[in-house]
Amino acid sequence: MARESKVKKTSKKKTKPKEIKKRPEAKKRPRPPPIPKQPCPPKKNRRDLETKPKVRHIKIHKTANAEPKPESSEQKRQRQASEFSVMNNRWNCSRSQTVSDRLKKDPKEWENYHDLYRQARAKWPITPYKEMIDWAQKRKHLIIGDFGCGEALLSAHISEYHTVYSFDHVAINERVIATDIVSTPLEDNCLDIAIFSLALMGTNFSDYLKEAFRTLKLDGQLHIWEATNRFDNAERFAADLIHLGFKTFSVEQKDVFTHIMALKTKERIEEEPVVRFKI
Ligand SMILES: C[S@@+](CC[C@H](N)C(=O)[O-])C[C@H]1O[C@@H](n2cnc3c(N)ncnc32)[C@H](O)[C@@H]1O
Repeated sequence: MARESKVKKTSKKKTKPKEIKKRPEAKKRPRPPPIPKQPCPPKKNRRDLETKPKVRHIKIHKTANAEPKPESSEQKRQRQASEFSVMNNRWNCSRSQTVSDRLKKDPKEWENYHDLYRQARAKWPITPYKEMIDWAQKRKHLIIGDFGCGEALLSAHISEYHTVYSFDHVAINERVIATDIVSTPLEDNCLDIAIFSLALMGTNFSDYLKEAFRTLKLDGQLHIWEATNRFDNAERFAADLIHLGFKTFSVEQKDVFTHIMALKTKERIEEEPVVRFKI
């Protein structure tokens, strides 16, 4: 027997298209009476009204108008060290004539330099001019030229038993003769010792050494103290002094400084020599 299908057979009825009913005409509501316009705020207040945020979080920085913090002693030390280095650089990179002219007009720069130099050397384990005092105290009756003497502290300590001529751009006291050390009022061949303690400043420092050569006696001694980091090779620099008529017999490293000792071995220099810290 054929099974009766459980699926009802549905007959497809034809549906009539829906009639589109016309809406009944909407009743017109009465309009509310117009809101009377507020008068415009005056221009200057208008912006405030437009831009003022509802909540404003304003951070008040208490330090904005506060006094600057006092410099700590470490900050002061660092600032002075950097000022000293800038001044050294400026003098080292100029011809001595330029520095001399500037200092003549305004010796304040020199005083400022020496304030900083005093602060700096107070922290040094050794101080070149003091080393020269120790050296001189072991000897007697020498005629000494202190080229670039600063405050003439060497003369102040040893002039009882030596004759010291002290030269610098500025004469800070009666011991000092103010001059550019390219040319001093000394006679030829009059010095036993010529000292340059941290004084080879200026691009033309070879001219200072020529002046030392002129004023030293034959076999007179030249002493140079410089910060070791100024040389690329202190031995080479010392050997080059031969071109200026000096024979080096000692190059010694002491702390951060180099001490070069040489003898004037010639009576005349024929060439136009120049020595350099770095090549
Ligand atoms: C770092 S200070 C050293 C002072 C002193 N010799 C000492 O050892 O304490 C260098 C000095 O050399 C002086 N100086 C450098 N070049 C000079 C020049 N061409 N004529 C005169 N003085 C010069 C500077 O004015 C400065 O006083």
